[in-house]
Amino acid sequence: MSTRKSRTMSTAEVAVIEDPIARLEALDRKAMLGGGQDRIDKQHAAGKLTARERVDLLLDPGTFVELDRLKTHRCTDFGMESVRPLGDGVVTGYGDIRGRLTYVFAQDFTVFGGSLGAAYAAKICKVMDLAAKVGAPVVGLNDSGGARIQEGVESLAGYADIFLRNTLMSGVIPQISAIMGPCAGGAVYSPAITDFIMMVEKTSYMFITGPEVIKTVTHEEVTKEALGGATTHSGKSGVSHFSFHGEKECLLGIRELMSFLPQNNREDPPFVETSDPVDRPEPALDTLIPRDPAKPYDIKDLIAAVVDDGFFLEVQRDFAGNIVIGFARIGGQSIGIVANQPAVLAGCLDIDASTKAARFVRFCDCFNIPLVTLVDVPGFLPGTEQEYGGIIRHGAKLLYAFAEATVPKVTLITRKAYGGAYDVMASKHIRADINYAYPSAEVAVMGSEGAVNILYRKELAEAKDPEARRAELIAEYRKTFANPYRVADLGYIDELIVPRDTRRWLSAALQMLRNKRQENPPRKHGNIPL
Ligand code: HXC
Repeated sequence: MSTRKSRTMSTAEVAVIEDPIARLEALDRKAMLGGGQDRIDKQHAAGKLTARERVDLLLDPGTFVELDRLKTHRCTDFGMESVRPLGDGVVTGYGDIRGRLTYVFAQDFTVFGGSLGAAYAAKICKVMDLAAKVGAPVVGLNDSGGARIQEGVESLAGYADIFLRNTLMSGVIPQISAIMGPCAGGAVYSPAITDFIMMVEKTSYMFITGPEVIKTVTHEEVTKEALGGATTHSGKSGVSHFSFHGEKECLLGIRELMSFLPQNNREDPPFVETSDPVDRPEPALDTLIPRDPAKPYDIKDLIAAVVDDGFFLEVQRDFAGNIVIGFARIGGQSIGIVANQPAVLAGCLDIDASTKAARFVRFCDCFNIPLVTLVDVPGFLPGTEQEYGGIIRHGAKLLYAFAEATVPKVTLITRKAYGGAYDVMASKHIRADINYAYPSAEVAVMGSEGAVNILYRKELAEAKDPEARRAELIAEYRKTFANPYRVADLGYIDELIVPRDTRRWLSAALQMLRNKRQENPPRKHGNIPL
């Protein structure tokens, strides 16, 4: 619908059309072409789709309703009065994703490089305000040179108007940002406040200051891609939650993600029918966890075995692999999964893992998505790098996030749950509703070796055969403490379960908790250690 290889009529030519309907149609055709066919061709040549093509792929066919298609800027500096493209460089409106109302804005790089001015910002604010009133998500498709230089501080004001709305709507309606071209300078802060950032490999980048400025200030030489491309933000900085090979995959990815989310904070996520029986046993799980506590295994095997049809939408797959987060369903109900990954850094919690999981837990809590936490954690990662980096502050985020969350919380300890990390990982003590453990679980203040070395330092120093004695003491400690029976006895674990029946147990708990309602004490807001 969006691009036509016809010559664009000039504004003067359109103005003299006398028939009112023909005039409107001519204006509409003109608006459809954005910055004109040449720039559309340039956009395609750069491997990118146009704003309208993107909107068409994002929304269910034929559902897009555009707003402000004829809006123009009011700038008169730098000769701008003679260039007033219809729509002013951003396509805004609403339509459906899988039949559910979604608001959208798509920045049009063919008009002034997608740069943002006052009228443009007002268009975005209009859809955001509507979305907030109606209680529906906003998807922003970003492809812009940033603040429109000709409009000066009015552009900055426009950005701030958007930032404010991003903030006030945070936790009220889901906000998703796709980066499909440049997104630089302060402009990055709108996507950064939204719930999820998706990036397209090779054609998108985000940075606060570009390679030129960096070269001048720090003398570092770096390419745009290495500085702020999808690979960098997915793997190194953790800014991006998903990256995709192409734009089409990215837009389909947004549709997939939305299927797990409610329309707003007062709704439950949509139920998705499944033919996968909730009591399906999975005998392979009985042997997934190695007997040797030092041996790794892949927690994603467990996740795939217990969720509906084995489908798990992993978030931040390439960042802080020692914790795994993402969406799945059990019995058709959306869940957020947080799982230590013993296959990476032995599943230790570190700064990146803590912040990654904390933000995800808070997202799920905002939007009524029950949390399933899978625990196999030997503790926090030791070392000066972590301490100097503030693991105390960052680890506290995860503790805080789990503790404040009021959605249904179901926890399963598969193997290790040691020390502070046991408390942090949705333990009973911070209001998990149902806590399960496998018989292979080890809940203790620390690992057997560490405990023996501290408790028996003197005895071991004096022992005739310290290594033999150490092995003996370790075995003794393991028998006494490194098992789940003491915590089950204390009621910190509600049930010890056989691994093959994990899906059935998780499903039963989630079903039972369906109508859980819990309130935190009234306050302006908490003070999470940021
Ligand atoms: C006005 C802009 C523009 C801008 C690009 N254009 N950025 N016009 N304001 N910010 C115009 C160009 O003049 C050009 O117009 C057309 O868009 C396409 O740009 P090109 O440079 O030809 O495209 P390309 O080579 O792909 O480079 C894209 C780009 C580059 C990397 C984005 O244009 C660029 O560096 N732009 C400036 C980026 C910038 O510094 N923005 C301000 C950042 S500060 P013609 O007519 O020649 O085709 C900021 C603050 C936000 O954003 C603060 C929020 C608090």
